[in-house]
Amino acid sequence: MANIFVADHPLVQHKLAVLRDVATPSKEFRRLIQEITELMVYEATRDLPMKDVEVQTPVAVAKCKKLAGRKLAFVPILRAGLGMMDGALELVPSARVGHIGLYRDPETLKPVEYYCKLPGDIEERDVIVLDPMLATGGSAIDAITQIKTRHPRNVKFMCIIAAPEGLAALTEAHPDVAVYCAALDDHLNDHGYIIPGLGDAGDRIFGTK
Ligand code: PRP
Ligand code: URA
Repeated sequence: MANIFVADHPLVQHKLAVLRDVATPSKEFRRLIQEITELMVYEATRDLPMKDVEVQTPVAVAKCKKLAGRKLAFVPILRAGLGMMDGALELVPSARVGHIGLYRDPETLKPVEYYCKLPGDIEERDVIVLDPMLATGGSAIDAITQIKTRHPRNVKFMCIIAAPEGLAALTEAHPDVAVYCAALDDHLNDHGYIIPGLGDAGDRIFGTK
């Protein structure tokens, strides 16, 4: 499938197996989400443009490359996307951060927006939207629609686990958005939960419920 990247690196897959385990406590769950995000951001930023620079080492001048000043913004979808923030900023500390608050109505499974604050200069930035779970796709689609009204240069979506239903809906609604995930799971159950998935990501990150 075009524009879909599944992180099949052994370190990502090992960490994901531990993350899914019902016996993994919140403290470890948070750390694993952070580590998986770091590895995935490493991959998702592979196409950042570079510029040639010369650097004076203690003994000579070295021809090197640096990032060509292209600016990034991360936008976590609250709440669970916050769990991916520290990992993303660990790799790109200069990135700006926006926030979009959405929750899924448990009856209709439709996203309800309650907060949106994006960087003022977002039109000069490439945006990576962060949310560990892509289930029906409603939250990701609405968040990206909202972000696009502010005309960023480019939008990517990064999750840990995607359901085929959500992936199909997202790529239909936003065919220009590349999707990065660590796993493409089997299906959604009647309550809109990803099977096998990992349960409720927000509750597991924050220890609620
Ligand atoms: C979860 C998850 C996504 C959404 C995915 O959030 O973090 O945002 O569900 O479902 P969808 O693809 O069907 O929209 P939730 O609504 O549980 O809110 P929370 O992060 O505040 O727990
Ligand atoms: N949100 C979650 O946190 N988990 C799912 O499986 C689906 C939506």
